[in-house]
Amino acid sequence: MICLTLMESSIEANLEVLENNRPYIDMVELRLDMLIDPLMIPPDTVKLKFGIPAIISFRKKVDGGKYEGNEDQRRLVLYTWSKYGFDFVDLELGTFFPEIEKSVLESGKKIIRSYHNFDMVPDNLEDIIRELSSRPGEIAKVAVYPYTSKDALKLFEVYDKVKDIKDKIILGMGEFGLPSRILYKKLGSMLSFCSSQEKSGAPGHISPLDMKNLYRVDKINSLTAVYGIIGNPVMHSKSPQLHNTAYEKARIDAVYIPFIVDNIDCFLKLAKLLVIDGFSVTVPHKVDIMDYLDEKSPELDTILSCNTVVLKGGLLKGFNTDSAGFLKPLLSLVDVSKINNCAVIGAGGAARAVISALKSIGKDVSIFNRSELRAVKLAAETGSRYYPVTRLDLLDGYDLIVQTTTVGMAPNEAETPVQGYKFRRGQIAYDIIYTPLKTKFLKDAESEGAVIIGGMEMLTTQGKEQFEIFTNRPFPSEEQKENF
Ligand code: ATR
Repeated sequence: MICLTLMESSIEANLEVLENNRPYIDMVELRLDMLIDPLMIPPDTVKLKFGIPAIISFRKKVDGGKYEGNEDQRRLVLYTWSKYGFDFVDLELGTFFPEIEKSVLESGKKIIRSYHNFDMVPDNLEDIIRELSSRPGEIAKVAVYPYTSKDALKLFEVYDKVKDIKDKIILGMGEFGLPSRILYKKLGSMLSFCSSQEKSGAPGHISPLDMKNLYRVDKINSLTAVYGIIGNPVMHSKSPQLHNTAYEKARIDAVYIPFIVDNIDCFLKLAKLLVIDGFSVTVPHKVDIMDYLDEKSPELDTILSCNTVVLKGGLLKGFNTDSAGFLKPLLSLVDVSKINNCAVIGAGGAARAVISALKSIGKDVSIFNRSELRAVKLAAETGSRYYPVTRLDLLDGYDLIVQTTTVGMAPNEAETPVQGYKFRRGQIAYDIIYTPLKTKFLKDAESEGAVIIGGMEMLTTQGKEQFEIFTNRPFPSEEQKENF
């Protein structure tokens, strides 16, 4: 079930949020601690207006809520509200309100026994979950905050250990916890929470619309194939839209999830736990992932950077679809025979794919990069020249300038790696960033009369090929682009 957390200070405002999201959700959690004066509101009318199953909770500040008053007042509010047919009453571990527990259970409703930890994933998480579920008729709920890939692995390892517990909700907060919210059903949780776009109920909540229509979380089951993208940052990625929409069009039972990753070893353990079938790779893991591959598609031997990994029988096979993705818009938009020499800004994994693509059409390349060491190595490996990115005076000599760094990507839209460079008329400026669609690098180029190419078509082309590698099926249709 998809549960919308209602966080507004009045019932009217909460009802408005509910109505805006009703098509996407199955139930609500009403956060009494957020209401201005919950004892002045008639709970029976509220329950009626909700019209769907509802949880009531009254969170103290230590549990991530707003309430800082005394326990007697909290007990009174919860007691009053719990009398009016709400389906679930959330009581935290350590909260002892026997009269509420008795009346809730006698009326056939349920207690959710919860534990929140905003600081970490505790080592004794399994014990905590067992304690939460030790009383008959109570549903165990934990919300913990993983801050690293190692924490995320710790959280995901617990699902298997407590699979004997039927009634449970185990969720991770923040970006590292996001996959637990999307895969809740596959992982055995009773529900997953989400918040309206305007106000987030907990860090990492996804909007109800995305829960329902993008990730289709309520349709994910034990048979659903799991794919994803690893990166850091990764939440800006449009790949989930591209792949999830394509799965739906092609009627493939699969989901594609963003995984923020700060440690590839931990992610690969997680991938095996979750039985992930494949994943895309983005900044900054495209080169490092190469060391983990058991098998390589031939193009990797020249590109030495990988953006696509298929996992089969515990083995990892790497591919690169960036290179072809980069070339397609270039070949269709400009006459490449007129390009004599190319400048590539950056020396990371994306730059490798771009250089390889340019070399494959016989072009001469110079690398302009911030740090010398990496660029000199790449220049030697690819037969290119290297210059510091500060040598803006040299850029006029290039017909094509390709921007492959993360500089200028949202939210740092005011930045460009070639600050102060005046593009020349007719020069071609190609930025592989697609958020924003037009970076400062491209805007500067356009204002000087240069030809500009943004990163969206490269994303679509490389994603389409990736889809075919992952699923062994043709990409459903060109209309895909309309979904961005
Ligand atoms: P990817 O694998 O996706 O290409 P990466 O390997 O992290 O990502 O490479 C990022 C590129 O962006 C590098 O060339 C990096 O320059 P350094 O080699 O000097 O680190 C470049 N880059 C990142 N931030 C930058 C900044 N603020 N200014 C200039 N270049 C930057």
